[in-house]
Formats: sequence, structure tokens, C-alpha cells
Amino acid sequence: MFIEYNILRDATTPYTGRCEQFKLNMKEILKKSYLYKVVKYYSSGKKLLTNSTYIDAKSKSEIEIQKKPNRTEVINFLLSQLNRETNYLEIGVRNPEDNYSKIKSKTKYSVDPGIEFEANPVDFKMTSDEFFSNLDQNKILSVDIKFDLIFIDGLHLAEQVDKDILNALKYVNEDGFIVLHDCNPPTEWHSREDYYFKSTPAGGHWNGTTWKAFLKWRFDDSVESCCIDTDWGVGVISKKYPIGKRLHLQNLFFEYKTFDKNRTELLNLMTFDNFKEIISETIHNNSYK
Ligand SMILES: C[S@@+](CC[C@H](N)C(=O)[O-])C[C@H]1O[C@@H](n2cnc3c(N)ncnc32)[C@H](O)[C@@H]1O
Repeated sequence: MFIEYNILRDATTPYTGRCEQFKLNMKEILKKSYLYKVVKYYSSGKKLLTNSTYIDAKSKSEIEIQKKPNRTEVINFLLSQLNRETNYLEIGVRNPEDNYSKIKSKTKYSVDPGIEFEANPVDFKMTSDEFFSNLDQNKILSVDIKFDLIFIDGLHLAEQVDKDILNALKYVNEDGFIVLHDCNPPTEWHSREDYYFKSTPAGGHWNGTTWKAFLKWRFDDSVESCCIDTDWGVGVISKKYPIGKRLHLQNLFFEYKTFDKNRTELLNLMTFDNFKEIISETIHNNSYK
């Protein structure tokens, strides 16, 4: 019986083998067919449209877009509180009509290498690193220049934003402000590193990793800081005003999920009304360092 079974198996193997091969070939041919690609295209699209991660990111983008006021109003509020003729610097301008042109300041300067907006009508067509290096060497403006507010909104990658903050601290007045856009990304997809990859649940919305640099400075005891919960997170750093004490936690890694769970405390997230109260109280009552 055993011998008969082996003879039968050896005799049929080539046929079952060929049959399997035929099935595999058919599958490959089918996969290359136009109809297969069309069906796959639409079924993948449908999966995305109904995917909870995509739906969550889309609704969080919509919520963020609705928030008021925007960065422009925050910047103009801060400049107005200084009660003097002010000097403003914007790093990363893109289309000036979106923000720069609406800023109310006696003097204004703009820096942008022109990556995203071809016309790039700025004062300094260069990266922020080049701008600050030229300033340090007294090649442009004056090495003694001070700004009342520096708006950092250039390359949204932590290492670059960190350098921009460090340079800005050198050139901002003691009672001036550093303002940063995009400090509060609503999902991990908004805080992806690659600006050019837009097939994500966040679509084209991009806050990059600015939050990591802002968070790093939240641990520094030479400044105070907070983040206004509007327009993707408007971070404010001050050398003088008590707008938010430094963090004393240990966090060397800045993982997005940890940030997400603790964002209110980590960013010192507050409403614009809350922020206005703090600023008016401290500036007008002279209750600061
Ligand atoms: C988000 S847009 C600025 C938007 C503008 N501040 C606003 O409020 O509407 C970022 C800009 O930063 C510029 N940029 C990119 N890398 C930069 C760098 N290393 N230094 C300065 N600007 C940079 C881009 O060309 C782009 O125009």
C-alpha cells in the first residue's frame, strides 16, 4: 500500500507542479492587466477615504484652519504693546500678502531664499543662516541692529529652527519677542519631516518639526515661552516677560506620541485671550524681571 502510494505521488507531481505554475502565471498576467489596475486604484482610494487615520487628520486640519486669530494678529498685537516705533524681521516670507505686508511696524525686513514663491520680493534673498552670518560680519544692515520682533517661519525642521532661535536671540531687543509659526502640529502626519511628500493623511498641510526646537527652548532658563493655541500653534519666546516658566522634565527624545499626550503642559498652550491678559498685566504693571 505504502509503495503504491509513493509510485502514484511520484507520477502525478509533475502535473500538479505544472498546474501550480499555470496558476501563478495567470495571476501575474492578471496583475499586469488594465482592469486589475483600475479595480485596485479605486478600491485603494476607497480604503483611504474611509480610513480613520485619514478622517482624523482631515478633521483636525479643518479645526485648525477655523481657529482665530491668525499669526498676523498675534504679531501686530505684540508690536502694539511696545508703545514705540518698532523694527520687525520675518524669516521665511513666501507670498508677502499672506502676512508680511499686513504687519504694522515702522521698519521691516524680510529674508527668504525663494524656494516656494518664485517672485520672492524680499529684502534679503538668502537663507536665514546666510542672513545671520552676513549680519554677524557687518556685511548687511549693521551688526548692532536690534529687532523688536523676529518672526521665524522659514525651514520647518528642528535643527534649522533651533539655529534660527539662537541667532534671533542675539538680535532681538531685551523686551522684544521671538514668534514662531507651526509649533502645534495636530497629528504626526502634519509633523512629518518631508515637506514634498503630500500623499499623507495631512494632505499638503505641513508643520514639520518646528515643535521639537520650540520644546527644546522650553527647557532653557534664559527665556520664558508659551504657545498660543491658534493658526497651527503660534510660539512666543521672551527674554524679559514672564509668559511661561521653563520646563524641568527630562525629555531628550521628543517623540511625537509623548508630545501629543502632554502638549498643553509641554508647549504651555494657552488661548489668545489668556495670553493678552498676561502681556497686558506684565507690560503695563511693570511686573517683570
Ligand atoms: C511657510 S512659508 C512662510 C510663510 C509666511 N511667513 C506667512 O506667514 O505667510 C516658508 C518660507 O520659508 C522659506 N525658506 C525655506 N528655507 C529657508 C531658509 N533656510 N531660510 C529662510 N527661509 C527659508 C521658503 O522659501 C518659504 O517661502
